[in-house]
Amino acid sequence: MRKSLIFIVSAMLIISSVLIMSCGDNGGTTVSADAPTIGVTIYRYDDNFMSFVRRNIESLISGNAHLIMNDSQNNQAQQNDQVDVMLNREAKALAINLVDPQAAQTIIDKAKAKDIPVIFFNKEASPQAMASYDKTWYVGTKSEESGDMQGQVVVNTWRANPSWDKNGDGVIQYVLIKGEPGHPDAEARTSHVTKYITENGIRVQRLEELNANWDTARAKDIVDAWMQKHGDKIEFIFSNNDSMALGALQSIQALGYNQGDNNKFIPIVGVDAIPDMLNEIKKGTIVGSVLNDALNQAKAVVDLALNVSTGKEPLEGTDWTLDEVKAVRVPYVPITIDNIEVAENTYK
Ligand code: BGC
Ligand code: CA
Repeated sequence: MRKSLIFIVSAMLIISSVLIMSCGDNGGTTVSADAPTIGVTIYRYDDNFMSFVRRNIESLISGNAHLIMNDSQNNQAQQNDQVDVMLNREAKALAINLVDPQAAQTIIDKAKAKDIPVIFFNKEASPQAMASYDKTWYVGTKSEESGDMQGQVVVNTWRANPSWDKNGDGVIQYVLIKGEPGHPDAEARTSHVTKYITENGIRVQRLEELNANWDTARAKDIVDAWMQKHGDKIEFIFSNNDSMALGALQSIQALGYNQGDNNKFIPIVGVDAIPDMLNEIKKGTIVGSVLNDALNQAKAVVDLALNVSTGKEPLEGTDWTLDEVKAVRVPYVPITIDNIEVAENTYK
């Protein structure tokens, strides 16, 4: 009797220690020992939007694979080293948010040498790089679409609010805060927002345009300077993303604008529709954004990574489709107060 009790207790101890061993990278969830290892990099953890993508990846992968998650700290050399380490740790698939989109080929060459599939996400690699390895895919969006949809929000809200044309010349005097130079999203959003507006019959005049690298504090400083220079001559602030739009809001609120009443107001639009932005849209301090779907982008990354890490076809058992450059494109959605629940639903 006593012997068999000792046996049961020791067997339980062994089992639980195996379970503990296999959950190291996965925040407490158990993963079977034969589940694949998947290596992920995020170009920098302190990017607001990417932090939502990362958390979604972590929770969706949890229990299905051993996850190695890296902060590349906006340093491509560091990311290259992280890729070497993950390949040495026998990762069966890599999911890479590049620091520098130009570095895709370096990563592909490393993975190809070990026959390990690579899924890039959020920062798109060139079509040439994508074509150089059959086991490379991309998950992201169609960048131009976000510029067009931001333009759509501008056109609709401008038409509905004639008082926003402060000098009454029928032209939108705007300033534009741009993301990172060379980032496909930043380039496409910048050119498409004004293209859409003018094609829809509203003339625009650019007062200023500068890069703020997706960053709130930088955007605030830039808009501080623009407000000093132009003040009320600015009739619209177009921002390539929400983090920078929120910096612009801080700047103009400090000067008494956009307090939630209609006294002193400069319309601001962003892209991403992150929760902080949705709160401002509800308060009436920001006019709109474009949903960059962090949940479905993470889902596509995880679906593809799990498939290819176990030797399956990338789309097996999923509803995703690939375009001519092997990219899954998750659609954007224009967001204003009228359909804010669409964006809120992706953050539930
Ligand atoms: C997002 C930005 C983010 C960037 C990072 C873009 O798609 O809109 O908020 O900073 O990706 O690469
Ligand atoms: Ca005007």
